[in-house]
Amino acid sequence: MPESKILLSGVKPTGTPHIGNYFGAMKQFVELQNKYESSFFIANYHALTNIVANNGEQRRGLEKNTFDIAVTYLAIGLDPRKTTLFLQSDVPQVTELAWIFNCLTTVPYLMRAHAYKDAITNGKEPNVGLFDYPLLMAADILIQDADVVPVGQDQKQHVEIARDTAEKFNRIFGEVFRLPKSLILENVATVPGIDGRKMSKSYGNTISLFATDEEIEKSVMSIVTDSSNERPENVYAIHALFKDKEFLDNLYEENKGKYKILKEVLIDDLKNFVRPMRDKKQDLETDKKMVLNVLRQGGQVARERAEKKMKEVREKIGLQIL
Ligand code: ADP
Ligand code: TRP
Repeated sequence: MPESKILLSGVKPTGTPHIGNYFGAMKQFVELQNKYESSFFIANYHALTNIVANNGEQRRGLEKNTFDIAVTYLAIGLDPRKTTLFLQSDVPQVTELAWIFNCLTTVPYLMRAHAYKDAITNGKEPNVGLFDYPLLMAADILIQDADVVPVGQDQKQHVEIARDTAEKFNRIFGEVFRLPKSLILENVATVPGIDGRKMSKSYGNTISLFATDEEIEKSVMSIVTDSSNERPENVYAIHALFKDKEFLDNLYEENKGKYKILKEVLIDDLKNFVRPMRDKKQDLETDKKMVLNVLRQGGQVARERAEKKMKEVREKIGLQIL
């Protein structure tokens, strides 16, 4: 039997997941866990690129967001019997590998990374962690021997950086790393937010995956519509996540210019989609011990694999002299 391919992905714990995260990335996770030997983790080291100045707030915020992603993984249908779920910081070997990658990568090469370029364009003074973000991500991917990395469009460049880094390492030190590829779900590559820009926690334009009915109503009613067009494109784009094109085209044609009616239909569809997720999340939150246990066990598996890989890496580059 051919060796099965390894799949890995991670989500940063920076807030409650939204439908953009789900349709752009997480939905694929659930389908893919049956096809690959898969692992999904919570990228809590990556979340540190945005440290909040007040310590209590920082710690509580990160702990809450981390737990939220763990619960989300389980609520959307990832099954710990089929897949490995873990916390990035339970595999500290990734920071060791990221350091080695730092020494292999030039500054001009990393200056081309989107997150860094965006920070500079927006007049921010990025920390070294943000600059180095793609190499920590490369370490996450390569240390687990991942072949396939399902991500949203905005992470494609990072997977390419991981691949370049693997090639460079292999060229210099000999074959150690597999060359990973991103897996991007077409059509839903970028989910728009309620203001029409990309849905993102950092824009405050999201619809939470676990929103209450009232929150759904409020969000949808505030979706910005373009009055120059009879079809409210922003409403349509979100609606297209739930209904097929033919059905929607008819619905929007029949209700041309009637934004309120169309928004009400979208509200119903969103409520039906969110309700079971929200219920499952509530159940899981009452069983914190079980959730933490899943992470602990997954962490052990991921750490063992990482340590095995690191032994090979250390040996190849001359760190393992004893
Ligand atoms: P945010 O922009 O809200 O902070 P993250 O950066 O935490 O989202 O993204 C987590 C995952 O969800 C990534 O794989 C990312 O590509 C995907 N993703 C985020 N926002 C969207 C969106 N609007 N449409 C499609 N995928 C998205
Ligand atoms: N950078 C990813 C994001 O912001 C999260 C992430 C970290 C990741 N390491 C990864 C995703 C490795 C896939 C594989 O969404």
